Amino acid sequence: MNVLALIKSRRSIRKYKKQIPSDRIIHSVLEAGRWAPSGLNNQPWRFFVVKDNAAKNKLASFTKYSRVIKEAPLIIVICLNLKDSYHREKDLMAIGAYIQNMLLQAHASGLGACWLGEILNKKEEVAHGLCLPKGFELVAVVSLGYPDEFIKAGKRRPLKGSIIPEKS
Ligand SMILES: Cc1cc2nc3c(=O)[nH]c(=O)nc-3n(C[C@H](O)[C@H](O)[C@H](O)COP(=O)(O)O)c2cc1C
Repeated sequence: MNVLALIKSRRSIRKYKKQIPSDRIIHSVLEAGRWAPSGLNNQPWRFFVVKDNAAKNKLASFTKYSRVIKEAPLIIVICLNLKDSYHREKDLMAIGAYIQNMLLQAHASGLGACWLGEILNKKEEVAHGLCLPKGFELVAVVSLGYPDEFIKAGKRRPLKGSIIPEKS
């Protein structure tokens, strides 16, 4: 599949089969993230993978998307490493690129994933609940697994709708 077709066919997947992706596939997803661009190449992202049910249930208790977290075989918790941070907005944009790289590699490998941002409403509680070391700030959670849902066509506004009109 060419890159544009891959980008266009990726959807957020919120229901998963029980099958756990192999370490090789998980590694390829993490590797795709690692090659994201970042300002000054500072690579401000850090992550950990959650597989065990107790930790997933704890994480799930901090978001209304708890079902997605509980049912996904794998969760990637993504943080900003404050020590590496040089410009907050740029660092967060770099982490956005990091996450998108992972979502695309997951899709290319036949996995489904969902970027879960709502959990940030309880960022402090998550940090405390998961005993996140000082110096790391939660940015997002990504759920991952083999899709078990009907994949709908995506919706986007037409390209023209994103153009800033010229001043008249
Ligand atoms: C920053 C960000 C936060 C998001 N947070 C959530 C979330 O908390 N829960 C959820 O189900 N989907 C979440 N999503 C997924 C979006 O709902 C989804 O990308 C959007 O509806 C477009 O659908 P698509 O990814 O299938 O093309 C988030 C996406 C982004 C980029």
